[in-house]
Amino acid sequence: MEVKIFDIERDHQGIKDKLVECVRDVLTNGEFVLGKEVDKFEKAFAEYVGVKYAIGVNSGTDALKIGGLSLGLKSGDALITTPNTYMSTAMGLSIHGIRPVFCDIELETLNMDPEMLEKALKEERDIKLCIPVHLYGHPCRMDEILDVCKRYGVRVLEDACQAHGALYKGKKVGGLGEVAAFSFYPTKNLGCYGDGGIITTNSQEIYEKSLMLRAYGQTAKHVHSIDGFNSRLDELQAALLLLKLERLDYWNNRRRHIAWLYRRELDGTPVMLMDEASWAHSVYHLFVIRTKERDELMGYLKEKNVSTLIHYPTPIHLQGVYSHLGYVEGAFPNAEASAKEIMSLPMYPSLTEDEVIYVSKCIREFYGM
Ligand SMILES: Cc1ncc(COP(=O)(O)O)c(C=O)c1O
Repeated sequence: MEVKIFDIERDHQGIKDKLVECVRDVLTNGEFVLGKEVDKFEKAFAEYVGVKYAIGVNSGTDALKIGGLSLGLKSGDALITTPNTYMSTAMGLSIHGIRPVFCDIELETLNMDPEMLEKALKEERDIKLCIPVHLYGHPCRMDEILDVCKRYGVRVLEDACQAHGALYKGKKVGGLGEVAAFSFYPTKNLGCYGDGGIITTNSQEIYEKSLMLRAYGQTAKHVHSIDGFNSRLDELQAALLLLKLERLDYWNNRRRHIAWLYRRELDGTPVMLMDEASWAHSVYHLFVIRTKERDELMGYLKEKNVSTLIHYPTPIHLQGVYSHLGYVEGAFPNAEASAKEIMSLPMYPSLTEDEVIYVSKCIREFYGM
């Protein structure tokens, strides 16, 4: 049996005809950028997240960039996030001269540790923005993070790029801080067929600023009041995303079922499974396990035709691009230790029970069980 790490084609089999019809409709409508489909999708996504506004942009990275700039961040300010995330959590804004500062994670969820956040905010006075990342689809401890940020006058931008539909204490992520960023990269829980992203917020001011930033700083056609970008969601992606949004909860529930099955099948093995906190409803963008024999286990699974990946092998404070910040190995023990032990097993809605059982059986075999 071969088990892929992702299988977007198979995930979409059930709606293939509708997707093709959707493409045909957009081609016939002849409107390709920021038209009716983007408008409909933005409204539907805002409603899904439970916020007033959603602004479609070019990617998750752009959603982080425009979300952060819409809060008034400027060159010379600093932001704080965790080191075990995708580069662009920090890079969306570091490219604009906003210095990344990092704090360590908690080992239960591999998400931001609010105590470490507070320690960093006490030491660093330039930090104007906190970016908690709901990594792997599991929400961060938002009450504690929001409380710390409020006390230190720090704004909050959620990186929800991996967490479409995740709940924190019953509330959707993406509406918990002042502004949030989602990615629609094809492998995401809600993915498009190219690049795409969206900003969500309840603030009219952030909404209006984001609209300007995504379209050349325009306040009206041919009226440019601020510097801006060209970062728009196109009609085709928006129409396809609107169609897929209807199925997002179903797909997320499939992911939750698969996670449950992995837990059952891997129970009693030496691999460590990530907790789902009692207050969390994870959407399992990834199913990540930890083991000291990570590289050997990945090699063994490869021989058995099971693909796995590491999200992410190098904590971002140790990436060359940030060497000027002066971080050295040992700065964030939890993030660094977990990077050496984590691996992602296949996780996507169309993964079958037989495939989960096969992957788990191979892991048991590796441990001689
Ligand atoms: C946590 C996180 N942040 C940001 C991004 C960036 O999103 P995009 O690839 O759409 O720019 C991603 C996706 O790759 C991500 O997983």
